[in-house]
Amino acid sequence: MDASAAPLREAWYYAAPSARLRRGGVLARKMLGEPVLLGRDDAGDVFALRDICPHRGMPLSAGAFNGQEIECCYHGWRFGRDGRCTAIPSLVSGQRFDLAAVSVPRYAACEVQGNIWVFFGEDATTAPPPPVLDSFAPAAAPRLIETMRFDSMIDHAVIGLMDPAHGPYVHRAWWWRTRRSAHEKAKTFAPAPFGFTMQRHAPSSNSRAYRLLLGGNVETEISFRLPSVRIELIWAGRYAIANLTALTPVDDQTTDVNHCIYWTAPWLSALRPILRPYVRAFLRQDATIMERQQQGLRFNPVLSLIDDADTQARWYYRLKREYQRAGAERRPFANPVEARTLRWRS
Ligand code: FES
Ligand SMILES: [Fe+2]
Repeated sequence: MDASAAPLREAWYYAAPSARLRRGGVLARKMLGEPVLLGRDDAGDVFALRDICPHRGMPLSAGAFNGQEIECCYHGWRFGRDGRCTAIPSLVSGQRFDLAAVSVPRYAACEVQGNIWVFFGEDATTAPPPPVLDSFAPAAAPRLIETMRFDSMIDHAVIGLMDPAHGPYVHRAWWWRTRRSAHEKAKTFAPAPFGFTMQRHAPSSNSRAYRLLLGGNVETEISFRLPSVRIELIWAGRYAIANLTALTPVDDQTTDVNHCIYWTAPWLSALRPILRPYVRAFLRQDATIMERQQQGLRFNPVLSLIDDADTQARWYYRLKREYQRAGAERRPFANPVEARTLRWRS
């Protein structure tokens, strides 16, 4: 894989739903090809460490965590939440060994609105921060979360999910849309921090369903931001819904698509059991098409991205390239996206 296709390291990635990690618990994850241990300590704070014991390579997540320290299951070496080694039980008195020489690499971790994010780079202060949904309280948590693993490298997973032209072909379903429902669309886009936004507008499709569910006039705004976050906000009357889709590279070939839905209308929670199979079916359609696409991509074909349907894909590549360059040249990121109206038929 050439360097530009590798996932951005100076970036926060979605790691897990907060609710999956209890106090005194750990979770094992693979992100950006690295084994990651997520933990929540006694005080409720999350942390992330490389999930490999520096002694002889045992996954630390297989050990015991007491809310303060993690003990490796092989020879009992212990590590603090900062990754520093605190004890080597096999040492006897008189054997001098500097514990400070042993540590596990630590990643920055944080929680935002019910999700845990991990940072892989050097400087989190200049990186795009994990997204905060303005219409929702800081303590809000997703009402529904679905994660699906895609056999697709991160770039194709990202542009596949932003792609406006595949809907009528891939997501054909009686409850969603048919090929015949395709029509011409024009949407206004503007640059946004580390990405771009499809400006607030009345949605053409599905608006009837939203109006029935929520009442009031429906408006929607969709934004994308590096490294791989898409946010769709829907307002109707006093209520708001947000679809947060955050993609995490598992390794060079695989991407986790994490889809979180937030809503403020309390009665929508009653629909959750009905909603979940729809969300899964929708994601499954994308996963299947991208798996098939891999069969062609393996031959490294030259691709033809066209205006305007593929413009968002081009913006993604330009944003990513600029972010890599700005980092290499140690200068501020300059958003390459220009305000524009894009037109396509879908
Ligand atoms: S491998 Fe972890 S203590 Fe030996
Ligand atoms: Fe799709």
